[in-house]
Amino acid sequence: MSDIVLRARDLKKHYSVGGGLLKPSNTVKALDGVSFDLERNKTLAVVGESGCGKSTLARLVTMIEEPTDGSLQIKDTELAGASVEARKALRPKVQIVFQNPYGSLNPRQQIGDALTEPLSMNTDLPKAEKRDRAKDMMAAVGLRPEHYDRYPHMFSGGQRQRIAIARALMLDPEILVLDEPVSALDVSIQAQVLNVLSELQEKLNLAYLFISHDLSVVKHIADDVMVMYLGKPVEKASRDELFSEPRHPYTRALLSATPIPDPTREKNREVLKGELPSPINPPSGCTFHPRCPKVFEPCADKVPLLEGSNNRKVACHLYTE
Ligand SMILES: Nc1ncnc2c1ncn2[C@@H]1O[C@H](COP(=O)(O)OP(=O)(O)O)[C@@H](O)[C@H]1O
Ligand SMILES: [Mg+2]
Repeated sequence: MSDIVLRARDLKKHYSVGGGLLKPSNTVKALDGVSFDLERNKTLAVVGESGCGKSTLARLVTMIEEPTDGSLQIKDTELAGASVEARKALRPKVQIVFQNPYGSLNPRQQIGDALTEPLSMNTDLPKAEKRDRAKDMMAAVGLRPEHYDRYPHMFSGGQRQRIAIARALMLDPEILVLDEPVSALDVSIQAQVLNVLSELQEKLNLAYLFISHDLSVVKHIADDVMVMYLGKPVEKASRDELFSEPRHPYTRALLSATPIPDPTREKNREVLKGELPSPINPPSGCTFHPRCPKVFEPCADKVPLLEGSNNRKVACHLYTE
């Protein structure tokens, strides 16, 4: 049995925006050709500045939206052209946790009901069984049994994120998409929630697609990292390689913006200039070239391809002969 639970190939999501009476609409290439595999018990981190297409990718992978183009296979089923029943059967297998769990928890619903609700909607389990499962899951994420009857506002941010994680796991998914799951939490609380996620992955054999704008957050939890810029991956590497030997100037800039105590790195800090350009009218050639400290002749004209070995790839003219 293959350990790959999800395959994305050249995934694209383009949105049509603006337009109207006598006005042509524009195309936002929110995601413009992304490929990766997700494996059981592994974490792929997707990193990049706000607006680079991370949440769009999350919505495609969780089947909230359909891709404009490309292939998405979940557990060997190609979603494009899959029957309604096949898609329905796959849906519980991929769950998502968002940055702000307050937004996804109903303030008037007790935690126990929030956790048993997915079971009520998808199974015929008796009430006692649903309750037991919810309590087991609460224990697994580090909540106490007496929390069962409480309401969301009675919890701290970290606890609410534990609840959101527990809820996402109630239907035994194989893939968990985590969209900035700790970005709203204090650093000390972040570490606790990341630990819970690591434990759960090991215990339940989960594949994680872990999205963050912050490289320091993924440093411990990721197995592999994909760095994205304006809807495209610019570098893919194992976690160790990415942190010890980042290649793309964008990755280097993200790393030097990351507060990791390392006096040796301070000397050659590369600061990212300017802001992420609009994906409606992206720069020519390498879309990073207007901000790149290493920009040279080919960059404004030629689009660099993502090249290299299977698990070490970079899209940058510095590395093409
Ligand atoms: N429904 C949509 N319609 C139009 N543009 C969108 C839509 N969703 C996202 N975008 C645009 O796509 C780009 C990527 O957005 P998003 O995936 O939310 O990025 P991230 O999660 O990395 O911050 C942004 O420029 C955003 O404005
Ligand atoms: Mg986002």
